[in-house]
Amino acid sequence: MSQHIIYSNQVDATLSAVIEGGNYHNVAVLVDQNTRQHVLPMLASSLEKAMVIEIPAGDEHKTLNSLISVWEALESCGATRQSLLVNLGGGMVTDLGGLAAATFKRGIACVNVPTTLLGAVDAAVGGKTGINFMGLKNEIGTFAPARHVIISTCFFSTLRHEDILSGYAEMLKHAILNSCHEFTALLDQDLNATDSDHLLERLKASVKLKEDIVNKDPTEQGLRKALNLGHTVGHALESHALETGSPVAHGYAVAWGLVVETVLSHMILGFPSDDLYALASFVKQNYGAPSVTCEHYDRLIALMRHDKKSAAGEINCTLLRQCGEPTINNKIDVDSLQSALDIMRDLLGV
Ligand SMILES: NC(=O)c1ccc[n+]([C@@H]2O[C@H](COP(=O)([O-])OP(=O)(O)OC[C@H]3O[C@@H](n4cnc5c(N)ncnc54)[C@H](O)[C@@H]3O)[C@@H](O)[C@H]2O)c1
Ligand SMILES: [Zn+2]
Repeated sequence: MSQHIIYSNQVDATLSAVIEGGNYHNVAVLVDQNTRQHVLPMLASSLEKAMVIEIPAGDEHKTLNSLISVWEALESCGATRQSLLVNLGGGMVTDLGGLAAATFKRGIACVNVPTTLLGAVDAAVGGKTGINFMGLKNEIGTFAPARHVIISTCFFSTLRHEDILSGYAEMLKHAILNSCHEFTALLDQDLNATDSDHLLERLKASVKLKEDIVNKDPTEQGLRKALNLGHTVGHALESHALETGSPVAHGYAVAWGLVVETVLSHMILGFPSDDLYALASFVKQNYGAPSVTCEHYDRLIALMRHDKKSAAGEINCTLLRQCGEPTINNKIDVDSLQSALDIMRDLLGV
């Protein structure tokens, strides 16, 4: 996968160098209203001549209509095959902008500048782009890596604490897939007093883990499925929260999903209980617990059967023998899943 990741706290200068080095006909920058307000002014020099394209913020706008508005804006600013699109935002902007760039005139270059922790650690890296369609998340999209991804912690000071936690859950996922050392380093962190240099170091380790996996399996034929850890249960909890009128941030659902799938890993593959308790205690303290009772289990299980990762109605999860040792494509029976949900509720004190 040809994607160049640059870590920089001088993003304006770094982006200027990237733009100059690319010899582009012209440059457009995609923002939402929040990144236009909080982040665009920090890139005044590099993006001085860029045409600004704004879409409304929020995942509910990651739609075909927003995509059309970006294509229209690119047309009207005279973009050519040699133009550059800079995606300046969280995962919503980099997913949609990545798809716009991959499809406009059969593909123009794009650079991702993620402005959320979740974007930096996950969405902006790895080449998946997409929009939601007919009520289905990320239903239409491509694998199309950005030419460069510029990662910095300097944008995070205006994020809500909830958005920091949401990204941190994906870092926990990467860490537990990687090694006990990395996992413990994240659990030791006090999230109410995050030091940005320390966070940048942990972020680099986290992105590297994702890059290593994606480079070996860019189109998710096998190994990349390990990155779905926590997401079979997490997506079901996220969809259920949405259906019941109390939406939760993606990363919260992932944190709870990680606990359930680690319980399953313990039950089925003997994942060490000490690591399970350490994870559950961290999640309880920082993310609380989902609003779920045993009356919701049937609906949650139905949602898991319809997950993209499940074939023929079977429930499919990535599990772990221990930190750093994932196994993909585990079929999970309903009884084990119900027990794991019970144990998660006990551990998180629902
Ligand atoms: N492509 C992938 O591999 C991948 C992986 C994970 C998630 N995703 C996608 O990422 C999206 C979620 O990412 P997200 O949490 O970054 O969402 P987001 O882009 O919607 O950002 C969350 C909120 O923060 C605001 N914001 C962004 N940067 C800011 C800043 N610096 N200061 C203040 N506010 C700021 C946004 O306007 C938005 O309101 C989802 O659409 C998900 O499907 C994609
Ligand atoms: Zn995720």
